[in-house]
Amino acid sequence: MSNSVPLAGKRILLVIAGGIAAYKSLDLIRRLKERGASVRAILTEAGARFVTPLSVQALTGDTVYQDLWSLTDESSMGHIQLSRDADLVVVAPATADLMARMAAGMANDLAATALLATDKPVLMAPAMNVRMWLHPATQDNLARLEARGVRRVGPNDGDMACGEYGPGRMAEPLEIVDAIIGVFTERAGPRPLAGRRALVTSGPTVEAIDPVRYIANRSSGKQGHAIAAALARLGAAVTLVTGPVRLPDPPGCTTVAIESAQQMLDACRAALPADVAVCAAAVADWRVKGAAGHKLKKDGGGPPVLELEENPDILATLSRAESRPALVVGFAAETRDVAAYARAKRLRKGCDWIVANDVGLGTQTFGGDANTVHVIRADAEESWPTMSKDAVAERLARAIADHFTQNESTQGDTR
Ligand code: PMT
Repeated sequence: MSNSVPLAGKRILLVIAGGIAAYKSLDLIRRLKERGASVRAILTEAGARFVTPLSVQALTGDTVYQDLWSLTDESSMGHIQLSRDADLVVVAPATADLMARMAAGMANDLAATALLATDKPVLMAPAMNVRMWLHPATQDNLARLEARGVRRVGPNDGDMACGEYGPGRMAEPLEIVDAIIGVFTERAGPRPLAGRRALVTSGPTVEAIDPVRYIANRSSGKQGHAIAAALARLGAAVTLVTGPVRLPDPPGCTTVAIESAQQMLDACRAALPADVAVCAAAVADWRVKGAAGHKLKKDGGGPPVLELEENPDILATLSRAESRPALVVGFAAETRDVAAYARAKRLRKGCDWIVANDVGLGTQTFGGDANTVHVIRADAEESWPTMSKDAVAERLARAIADHFTQNESTQGDTR
């Protein structure tokens, strides 16, 4: 993050609820944009009584989202996408009413629905009358929201628009900006892989039978993409080489899309040198020998016979390459004797670590959101509990970072 544009590229979803402090949110939009952020706004019905949609639209330079039931908004940007397309959701002003609805998990307007559907961090800037703020109901709601990880800036003490004095004034726009920068800095966390290059393979490969048919497998890319994103979050410069998947490119990675195993190998070679390679792709072991250049026809002579030939082994090639990454991590997809087969695979392919997972019927390891892995190194083995693929990725990325940190301290930096 550069200091002049500390929020460059950050996408903020600003929820403006109905309070007199809503006028400060217009200034907040301006301050955020000055710092490089893009701002998209949801204006509640009550919020629109304090600031006009036109002012918000003019300042954000974007549509103002107001109605849960608007066909136009829902077709162009549904409430789920709206809440997920942001890096941070900011509620300013957060009124007593909206805080209560957030705490109760209600979804009775677009703002509450987006806040319930979001998987992004939420920062709120409460603003209300001092008695409302101090009321046990509001304090209970606050405690529940903070226990769930919602961050808060303010409220400040001061003279209130209603003539009373005390806590309840919304934080000033620049204080909210500082809190927003604080959330991003805190989330960026330590970056132990800064200066390292990582190569990750993900997804299936598809092997042509003819121009329209192919052989493939059920890999969704969820595990490999999560690993690429986790390594990038720890500061690595990541090249992700992926077969066809229905996932967005992970943020902060260079993504190279390929189809066949041969193309995946070529892209991996082009991405070297790297400090670490993680091969999570489900690469087809075989391809069709002499794939047809034209669509095969039913010509009455019976089904065609497909002769297969072996694909290159990318993991084994990287493990034995002249410019071998210092750490090569393979995956092993097994349906029985998982650890035993994986141990043999690690030695046969020449990688340093192998992450074994059971892909037997009913496990949903291919395509599902969870994984149960057994990590095998030369000198140690660990069984990890069943976790989301994101959590597996996070833990693996941290183990990789720890490996480099330990090597640095014992052998000097290898960067
Ligand atoms: O994509 P998801 O739906 O999230 O599912 C994740 C996954 C199950 C695909 C993933 O966790 C996984 O196990 N990936 C490896 C799948 C696989 O092909 O395993 P394997 O045991 O056949 O191969 C062993 C290793 O060799 C793997 O690292 C594989 O990438 C690599 N390989 C295999 C064949 C080949 N020709 N080249 C390779 O590099």
